[in-house]
Amino acid sequence: MSPTLRTLVIASGNLGKIREFESLLGGLPLRITAQPDGLEVEETGQTFAANARLKAVAVANATESWALADDSGLSVDALNGAPGVHSARYAPTDPERISRLLDALKNHDHRRAHFCAALCLAAPGNGVLLEVQGRCDGQITRSPRGEGGFGYDPIFEVEGTARTFAEMSTPEKKAHGHRGRAFTLLEPQLRQLLLKP
Ligand code: IMP
Repeated sequence: MSPTLRTLVIASGNLGKIREFESLLGGLPLRITAQPDGLEVEETGQTFAANARLKAVAVANATESWALADDSGLSVDALNGAPGVHSARYAPTDPERISRLLDALKNHDHRRAHFCAALCLAAPGNGVLLEVQGRCDGQITRSPRGEGGFGYDPIFEVEGTARTFAEMSTPEKKAHGHRGRAFTLLEPQLRQLLLKP
């Protein structure tokens, strides 16, 4: 007999993100759904973990199902961690976000930065069930390189590889990347939770 599938709502309206979660969680006994239309959760937290928690708890309570949320972004040492939780809102488009960041760093030789992805799983009423974070360290390049990926990928050179995320294949980015690392931490813990009666 096949096990009963638990519903897991992905706390996002972004179809690309929902597909990515579906493929990452494919091996688990879950029925994955998108959050209901019209449910918007404001990201008012000061950290990636706080924003992931806000979204997961709100969506779990609104849908009365388990909910999984993520929040991610790029923090640059020389800019005191900016754009950080404001990565998506740093400028209106990806090319403008890249130009703004390169401009802000034009007089800096110290170009260390890291990506962070926080994941939070919440249950209705009970609050947070699991929280993990993945991190990827690197440097901001002087100019964009590579055609792949999205967002800040062309200007983020991954430590120890001499390549930007945009110069990597999808499996390579998953192996090195912050989101892939966060999922690697989440998966066995989620599997354990699903085994509990
Ligand atoms: P959110 O997690 O959907 O709030 O988006 C965070 C923002 O951080 C994105 O819009 C991108 O600008 C940036 N970001 C997060 N992860 C990545 C990545 O893997 N590559 C490039 N940019 C990213």
